[in-house]
Amino acid sequence: MSDISLQINEQEVVVKEGTTILEAAKHAGISIPTLCHHDKLKPYGGCRLCIVEAQSRGKTTMVASCVYPAESGMVIKTSTQKIKKIRKTLLELLLAHSPDSPQLQELAKEYGADKERYDKESSFCIHCGLCVRYCAEIKKKNALGFVNRGTKKEISFIPEIASKECEACKECFPLCPTSYLQAAYVLAKSLTQLTQMP
Ligand code: SF4
Ligand code: FES
Repeated sequence: MSDISLQINEQEVVVKEGTTILEAAKHAGISIPTLCHHDKLKPYGGCRLCIVEAQSRGKTTMVASCVYPAESGMVIKTSTQKIKKIRKTLLELLLAHSPDSPQLQELAKEYGADKERYDKESSFCIHCGLCVRYCAEIKKKNALGFVNRGTKKEISFIPEIASKECEACKECFPLCPTSYLQAAYVLAKSLTQLTQMP
C-alpha cells in the first residue's frame, strides 16, 4: 500500500493509503474526541463527535473522521469554532440521556456543553453500539443487541445467551460511556432468575 501525504492542523502527515483521518491524526499526535470508536472494532460512525473539516479537490465538507479515509493532498482542521459548536450541541443531546456519565461530563467541560439544555431522556443509552459490536465482533457471542427504533431504541440482552455467557465475561461493561449497560445486565439477570424460580 502506498504512502499518502496530507495536512492536519497545518502539520504535514504521511500515512498509508486506506488510513482513516482519525488514525492519521493519532499518528501525528493530534487528539480528536470519540465516543463510539474502538481500535479493535470496525469503524461505525455513530456518535459524530469525531467530526472534522476536510478540504479536498476544492470542496470543504464536515466528515466523521473515524470512518472517512485520508486522501492525498487533503487539508484537515480538527478544532474550528464551527466544529466546537457542533460537538457542544451533540454533547448536550447525549447529556440528556446520561447527565452523570463521567466521560460525558469531562467532554462537556471541554466544550462548554450544558447538561440542562435538553429535556432528560428516559434511556441512559447513547447508542454508541460499543457493547453490541464488541460482543458480536470480538467475543462472537451476540449476547445483546438493539431493539426498537428512533427514540425508543434500546439495548437488550438475549436471556438465553446472556445467562450462559455474560457472568464470566462482562468485558463490554467498561466500554460503555454511560452506566446503562450494567443496569440493563442486572435487570436481564434478575429476570432470568425470576423465570427460573419454581
Ligand atoms: S449500553 Fe452503553 S455501550 Fe451499549 S450502546 Fe448504550 S451507551 Fe453504548
Ligand atoms: S467516534 Fe466517529 S462517529 Fe463516533
